[in-house]
Amino acid sequence: MSAAVLWHHARLATLVPDAQDGWGLIDDGAILTAGDTIVWVGAYRDRPESARDARHVDLGGLLVTPGLIDCHTHLVYGGHRANEAEMRLEGASYEAIARAGGGIRSSVTATRSATDDALLTMASRRAQALMREGVTTLEIKSGYGLSLEAEARSLRVARTIGRTLPVDVRTTFLGAHAVPPEYAGRADDYIRAVCEWLPVLHREGMVDAVDAFCETIGFTPAQTRRVFDAARALGLPVKLHAEQLSDQRGAVLAAEFDALSCDHLEYLGSDGIAAMEAAGTVAVLLPGAFYMLRETRVPPIAALREAGVPMAVATDHNPGTSPGLSLLLSAHMSCIFFRLTPLEAIRGITQHAAQALGLRDRGVLAAGLRADFAAFDVAHPNELAYWFGTNPCRRVVAAGVERV
Ligand code: NIG
Ligand code: FE
Repeated sequence: MSAAVLWHHARLATLVPDAQDGWGLIDDGAILTAGDTIVWVGAYRDRPESARDARHVDLGGLLVTPGLIDCHTHLVYGGHRANEAEMRLEGASYEAIARAGGGIRSSVTATRSATDDALLTMASRRAQALMREGVTTLEIKSGYGLSLEAEARSLRVARTIGRTLPVDVRTTFLGAHAVPPEYAGRADDYIRAVCEWLPVLHREGMVDAVDAFCETIGFTPAQTRRVFDAARALGLPVKLHAEQLSDQRGAVLAAEFDALSCDHLEYLGSDGIAAMEAAGTVAVLLPGAFYMLRETRVPPIAALREAGVPMAVATDHNPGTSPGLSLLLSAHMSCIFFRLTPLEAIRGITQHAAQALGLRDRGVLAAGLRADFAAFDVAHPNELAYWFGTNPCRRVVAAGVERV
């Protein structure tokens, strides 16, 4: 087993689901990997015989968690919207700016006019910022192109990031993000176009999941259903920007399609919670957008917890509502604003984030899973949701290879 590596001298937070202490802490732990796979996890003194011939890497006593997973981002876009953020500080609402043709549409204009190189360079820099904190899997949505060609380009850029940087990228088609100017007043026609583009993009192997923005300033539940029908016809899983600004009963609709996740959820009602629970849909909480929009209504965390709906946390990085690039800050905010426990927050950026992407091969440290992990300069994993404005990540292993 020449490619075997024993990563030792670490405190592990395995986050296995049945951990008695919640975290799955193992003091003086070690991880044996072969290529891109974990073959054994445990206390160093219990290491298997086969570990003897493995290359030994001393992790210097750092705390090791599964590689972090940002399961909701919009990393590919041109320009930025600092001007709109300033308008909001002066009293304009997100909805009013969107209705006046700003918002997502202004990022569409900037994205369409950016060169391929510029889009890739900017998105790669954003990905690298997330990676520096220990992110090893990243979801990236399209949604600022809104034509077949421009959506394909965004998905291509996202996929290129996964090929050129040591991070696994999952791409989500979000054609139903806003109505582009050439379809103004013709949202139903635009949805027809989106449903026609999807098989083309899927054929080119560029789509892992399909998302939509179901909202008064986005698309109606009926329009969202058409997009989901098109996804289902291709066997693609769906996700939904649901109940962010109002209760559209988007979560109920998404659950009908066995959605992987419903995201935002500030206005989620009890019918939506029950439907998500029954469908096994993950609730993805996005405290960065909540913060940036100065929202006061929080998602129904206690009811989600009570119902046993898994909760994930993501950055929602985008130029309008969440220009942040720190998944650990999002975890921290989910505790402060939404009252998640630190354990829930950290499971939210590992185990449950993997579930929100439909990935069963990562999110916890266990034999048979991908060798993705991050090492932090903290003594206990609850500190990861405690400190903010500082990056405690010291080392990252992605698919069995240590990043330099
Ligand atoms: O997740 N809500 C819709 N989409 C993004 C915001 C997009 C934008 O304003 O550019 C979100 O918050
Ligand atoms: Fe989003």
